[in-house]
Amino acid sequence: MLVRILGSAAGGGFPQWNCNCNGCQSTRAGDMNAQERTQSSLAVRANNGSWFLVNASPDVRQQLERLRDEVPNSIRSSPIAGVLLSDGEIDHTAGLMILREADEPLQIYGTDAVKQGLTEGFSVLRVLKNYCGVNWINIEPGSKVNLSNNDNLGLEVEAFSLPSKAPKYMRSSSPVEGNWVVGFTFRDRDTGGVVTYAPALAELSNSILERLENSDCILVDGTFWQDNELLALGTSTRTARAMGHLPLSGDDGSLIPLSKLSCKRKIFTHINNTNPILIANSTEHKIVEAAGMEVAYDGLSIEL
Ligand code: MLT
Ligand code: MN
Ligand code: ZN
Repeated sequence: MLVRILGSAAGGGFPQWNCNCNGCQSTRAGDMNAQERTQSSLAVRANNGSWFLVNASPDVRQQLERLRDEVPNSIRSSPIAGVLLSDGEIDHTAGLMILREADEPLQIYGTDAVKQGLTEGFSVLRVLKNYCGVNWINIEPGSKVNLSNNDNLGLEVEAFSLPSKAPKYMRSSSPVEGNWVVGFTFRDRDTGGVVTYAPALAELSNSILERLENSDCILVDGTFWQDNELLALGTSTRTARAMGHLPLSGDDGSLIPLSKLSCKRKIFTHINNTNPILIANSTEHKIVEAAGMEVAYDGLSIEL
């Protein structure tokens, strides 16, 4: 299985268009330690099969160029066979609009709740109906979906439940109680490789920790360093936890329990531009590395 991080920043990217925090300013100044990053997305494939996009970020157009490693034999071709959505947040779904030029209906995998959000709130599914069309494939926690043409080999994905939080755009409606947020575990049935992806971890329950421990590679929520990160900067009134993201630091942060896991690769992704781990020579970045974990960057490829 090959996993390629297409975008390692959280919503807004790095730098974010209207942000003048230390990190964003360092990036603009060309600081080599503050590498630019696009918004949250990755691609996965097994056995040289088709790529699947996991979350469609607003930066999807440039991100998909990273998957064009085959010589085309026709005037039009899509580098992806489908899109999996871990939630309905704008940073994970705005890119669907960019994919409207597709020749075939988009194959989109997501929960019923996310489908409702993308129909009634941020109504991209309604819009796409009149462009490429959409073939929605329901995937709820516990269900396993075969992503390859072969029934026994190739790539399989399992969605798992995470604390639910409906996107802001659903606040004015009455959203169904449902699975607004899931994580994905990918299994390569040829190599046995297991990768778990969870860009929005609000807590680390025993069942989630067990799932992570049983993965060869984890790609997890690296959004905020501190719980009050945005409050301290005066850019939000909400804590990291209130936004559904467990911060890394502190006795009850994610870094301590994650550092104890024995997975081969442990990687933070979906990193907000205010998080100092984005600065390669920062104390916080060094703390993450000393804990045996990695900070994702765009283009990072992992083979398992
Ligand atoms: C999140 O990661 O919590 C969302 O992307 C936040 C947002 O875009 O409002
Ligand atoms: Mn996000
Ligand atoms: Zn910033």
